Amino acid sequence: MFHLVGIVGNNYSGSLNRALLQAMQRRYADQFTLTLLETKPLPLFSQDDETTPGQAVRAFRAAIATADGVIIATPEHNHSLPAVLKNALDWCSRIEHPLEDKRVMVVGASLGPMGTVRAQAHLRQILDSPGIGALTLPGNEFLMGLAGKQFDAQGNLTDPATRAFLDTCVANYLDFLRH
Ligand SMILES: Cc1cc2nc3c(=O)[nH]c(=O)nc-3n(C[C@H](O)[C@H](O)[C@H](O)COP(=O)(O)O)c2cc1C
Repeated sequence: MFHLVGIVGNNYSGSLNRALLQAMQRRYADQFTLTLLETKPLPLFSQDDETTPGQAVRAFRAAIATADGVIIATPEHNHSLPAVLKNALDWCSRIEHPLEDKRVMVVGASLGPMGTVRAQAHLRQILDSPGIGALTLPGNEFLMGLAGKQFDAQGNLTDPATRAFLDTCVANYLDFLRH
């Protein structure tokens, strides 16, 4: 059983990307645990504070460092990833590098039809930067468009094709974790 963390890429209480991670928590409970990590508690990164990070930053980085893998659920804000997610990644790029050589899966949900394709492209580029150095699952882009219609009242995924594609991407990620 893998023990994974899922980074919620927005600070919005009604986040569909949090809902996506929660749906994954339930759907794959027999294959991995998924502990959600919120980006909202993290202060705005400043080099002035990088040698004295507070408890929120230390706990966030420690959870990543000790996890078997990381799933990042990114919304798309103005054709890129939300600032709170970029901020969290900046905290993971200085002094301590908890994502270095960590195997990461990227998923994303958006209200529009493009399903975070631009945000995910930016996110993958950032994860590949020297300060972060993550190993991002290649070739599997789980893009959930029209996300407002993708969850039922219990928060489970409504569309069989979406569920099947997510199953494939998750199976590929678990293989990636094993090798
Ligand atoms: C500031 C802002 C910018 C947005 N820009 C985009 C965008 O570029 N592309 C897109 O598909 N949706 C965009 N949206 C709509 C998001 O897809 C929608 O808010 C979605 O629910 C975000 O994910 P979340 O629910 O996890 O926060 C934007 C929303 C906000 C608040």
